[in-house]
Amino acid sequence: MARSKISVIGAGNVGATVAQFLVTKDLGDVYLFDVVEGIPEGKALDIYEGTPHWDVDSKIFGFTTKTPDVYKNLENSDVIVVTAGLARKPGMSRDDLLGKNIEIIADVAKNIARYSPESRIIVVTNPADIMAYAFYKVSGIKPERILGLGGSLDSARFRTFIAMELGVSVEDVNAFVIGGHGDDMVPFIRYSSVGGIPIEKLIPKERIDEIVKRTRFGGGEIVNFLKTGSAYYAPGISITAMVESIIRDKKRVIPSAAFLSGKHAEHYGVSGLFIGVPVRIGKDGAETIYDIDFQKDELDLWKKTVSSVKNSCETVDRILKQ
Ligand code: NAI
Ligand code: 2OP
Repeated sequence: MARSKISVIGAGNVGATVAQFLVTKDLGDVYLFDVVEGIPEGKALDIYEGTPHWDVDSKIFGFTTKTPDVYKNLENSDVIVVTAGLARKPGMSRDDLLGKNIEIIADVAKNIARYSPESRIIVVTNPADIMAYAFYKVSGIKPERILGLGGSLDSARFRTFIAMELGVSVEDVNAFVIGGHGDDMVPFIRYSSVGGIPIEKLIPKERIDEIVKRTRFGGGEIVNFLKTGSAYYAPGISITAMVESIIRDKKRVIPSAAFLSGKHAEHYGVSGLFIGVPVRIGKDGAETIYDIDFQKDELDLWKKTVSSVKNSCETVDRILKQ
């Protein structure tokens, strides 16, 4: 069987970290792209030179996108991870990145549409739900092939904080976060459990509220520590889980920004944009979206996050029309 090909656009903190994890897990050959001359070649070669110690066959190559034709090297990628763009600094929200990152995403989207339109795409660049939408609008690629990073990372943070609270293994914590990858994301308490026991039976309400808050601001917590940029290890691992589910057709259910249409749009009350919902991820990308029922308080939170994502998508429409 031919080895899979995974392209990563943007060889900064997240791009280089995910490239390293993909090679470590031997998921396929990795093609790393960046606009800054020498960075992708240097980082790729550095990772490649370490592979004899890992007992893996994956190779990794770097490409500077000096001219658009360099993107020809994307051809026949099974998965493309898009991390190109600016990251947050202290005091910035993910939405503050919108204006600049939309230009970058538009450029990348055109090149992917030209050279590898059949790939499955994971949009990481923030604000990720909005950039997934912009990517879809510009590329015209089938929306079920496009996923945005959000819930995979936010749910991992939520699970970690629950495990820390109870002193249990993260493995036994089942919990997820839906909605936009912004401060009004929705950590879903009612379906969260530890070893099958609902967390509401194990953790007092005030502490659950603290955990939910810490999850919502988990990205900001790391930015405040690092000061020069945002998180990349947990994002790298969370992206790798999504790529692995596609490459190995694992059909894992990982909340991700997925395109809502038809009966899902009706259920979730929002149509034609990408927002975090539970998705079965397999070789075809977003294969099945699961419709979950909301109680009154959950529905209020859902409507709030939908409204934020919708407003930003309207801004995208305005910018793309100019
Ligand atoms: P970074 O600044 O370390 O790396 C970004 C890279 O993109 C740089 O190397 C830059 O040269 C490159 N780049 C810029 N324009 C480009 C273009 N037109 N073509 C190719 N490469 C280009 O930033 P970092 O930490 O890697 O984050 C990348 C993006 O991912 C940010 O927007 C960040 O907010 C987002 N992010 C999203 C997460 C999510 O959960 N959705 C999680 C973590 C980061
Ligand atoms: C995070 O949540 C930067 O969005 C990114 O860490």
